[in-house]
Amino acid sequence: MKYAPFEIEHFFRQHEFSAPHGISSSDCEPLTLPELLRFASPRRREQFEQLWLGYTDNQGHPELRAAIAGLHEGVAADDVIEVVPEEGIFLTMNALLEAGDHVVAIAPSFQSLWEIARAKGCELSFWHQRQSGSGWHFDLDELAGLIRPDTKMLIVNFPHNPSGCLPGRAEFERVVELARQHNLILFSDEIYRFSEQGAELRLPSACELYERSVTLGGLSKCFGLPGLRVGWLITPDAALSHELQELKSYVTICASAPSEILALIGLENWRALTARTVEIVQQNIEHCRAFFARYDGLFQVSYPQAGTVTLVELKSDRSVDDFAAAAVAEQGVTVLPASVMLFEGNFFRLGLGRRSLPHALEPLEHVISDHLL
Ligand SMILES: Cc1ncc(COP(=O)(O)O)c(C=O)c1O
Repeated sequence: MKYAPFEIEHFFRQHEFSAPHGISSSDCEPLTLPELLRFASPRRREQFEQLWLGYTDNQGHPELRAAIAGLHEGVAADDVIEVVPEEGIFLTMNALLEAGDHVVAIAPSFQSLWEIARAKGCELSFWHQRQSGSGWHFDLDELAGLIRPDTKMLIVNFPHNPSGCLPGRAEFERVVELARQHNLILFSDEIYRFSEQGAELRLPSACELYERSVTLGGLSKCFGLPGLRVGWLITPDAALSHELQELKSYVTICASAPSEILALIGLENWRALTARTVEIVQQNIEHCRAFFARYDGLFQVSYPQAGTVTLVELKSDRSVDDFAAAAVAEQGVTVLPASVMLFEGNFFRLGLGRRSLPHALEPLEHVISDHLL
């Protein structure tokens, strides 16, 4: 089994720590350790300071699994498997798919969401994003047309990376209904859940709605804790859960002990952490509205209601690839073009979660005036 290079990871490895500015990150302003510890109850602080650095529970710390379950309706701690978020994708695709299976996957999407299935020899059909006005949507009739009698898994990701698309509740329930009608495994990547700009926009989690679902979540994005490497898989299906846990023993075996306690501190204060992210995103949206409006139609931006990223269309004869190359070479600004996310069109991803975004847009002005005006 040979995996294609993970383009987006390759791109960020090249630039993330060498270019001084970035406007395309998907994570949100990470907290520092002292900032996080300030949220800790005396008990958690003591637990962290006295921590025994042994191996941890294979399925995840029971209290942490209970806290994760508590973010969902009708989910028990035993339904939760703690994983590194990316590991959760790897485990699911490897444990639950075989060569020859037909899989429907949302596109564009985080490459591992479909590349692992491709490398295993699965047959893929893509459910493509469509532009509607300045926003994005996914067509349900199109999805229904992609599902075949032999389809095994449907892979979705809402709020969506990279478009920021968030369907309405009825639409999401229809996606779940299609999965149920065809007895599909529904893999729902919900790593951007809890970044909604208004709790009323939050979709139910797939694991709350459907027995054969596997939900992926984690602390990497709107909780501001990507460095903890803590995420989770939740499935109500005991047989699927067993397969996932068996394979985990061949990958990380168990989680990092300090990360588990820090994750507990984060989850016990999840409302404050996610509110902090939403506030940063909303401030950045206001800043970007003013910034891009100055260029009179050169950029078309769809500002999302959830998630930490969106797509910007460059309305120019100049390609986004050239623009991105000039931005990093001349001003040290990392701009992620559509080609690296493996889809067509003159788009780049705008990351709205970092406090440094306004500051990173300043040097971009020079690139715009030198190359696009
Ligand atoms: C949609 C999606 N799923 C999963 C992941 C994996 O998260 P992590 O990098 O924290 O493992 C990412 C990271 O960017 C993502 O965008």
